[in-house]
Amino acid sequence: MKIRIFSVIVFMVWSVSSLAGDTKFSDHLFAKFQVKGCTTCHDFFEKERSGHAFTSHKGRTSEMCVLCHTQEVTGFKNADEWFARPGLYMSGMNAQQTCEATKASLNAKFKNNTKIARDLELHLFEDPRVLWGIEGATPKSGTLPDGTKEKDLAKGGLKIWKEQVREWIRGGMKCQ
Ligand code: HEC
Ligand code: HEC
Repeated sequence: MKIRIFSVIVFMVWSVSSLAGDTKFSDHLFAKFQVKGCTTCHDFFEKERSGHAFTSHKGRTSEMCVLCHTQEVTGFKNADEWFARPGLYMSGMNAQQTCEATKASLNAKFKNNTKIARDLELHLFEDPRVLWGIEGATPKSGTLPDGTKEKDLAKGGLKIWKEQVREWIRGGMKCQ
């Protein structure tokens, strides 16, 4: 009898936790991570993705970014946070690859899950670059120097973005 009660409890705990944790990266976040508002920046130094460093931005140095992507254009407190770095997740990756590359840039292998979650939230909720890529997150989201706008942003706004990130974190940050 005792064993049966125990296994019922184990089963209940298991089913509750699996209910709370069935959100996968591919459910919502994958599509949002792959909008141009994010990937054009992450592809900047990727030649095979026609990154800007090899096309429209040939020869532009890091010192020059702020001349055009000014605070007025991007809305960033510090204009020089508008920069690109190679080796991030990039366009054309599938859900698994996008997710794993994201974790790799956070050095997730060397952190426990609570720390990874905290670092992820900090970056995905506060970083001006990420907010620039989310539709409506700031008045300047998507704005570019020549008066044009990047139209392919993460849709749905910041509130839904936060909910979806939190759901994924609660689900154990699974990379499927
Ligand atoms: C202005 C260029 C730019 C834009 C736009 C941009 N990123 Fe990034 N992203 C970077 C850079 C640079 C890094 C590396 C972090 C660093 O060096 O501070 C980065 C890192 C990341 C990381 C890894 C975490 C980390 O701290 O390194 C994730 C995840 C990420 N970006 C997601 C996004 C998402 C999602 C969007 C769009 C909603 C986005 N980024 C838009 C430039 C950008
Ligand atoms: C001479 C002005 C100028 C300079 C300097 C400049 N940019 Fe740009 N940038 C633009 C213009 C105009 C656009 C929009 C047209 C295009 O994509 O080429 C743009 C677009 C971009 C985009 C694409 C964003 C999107 O989602 O469409 C990225 C990323 C970018 N710039 C990064 C940089 C970085 C990083 C630097 C510094 C290494 C830099 N830019 C320097 C004028 C400039």
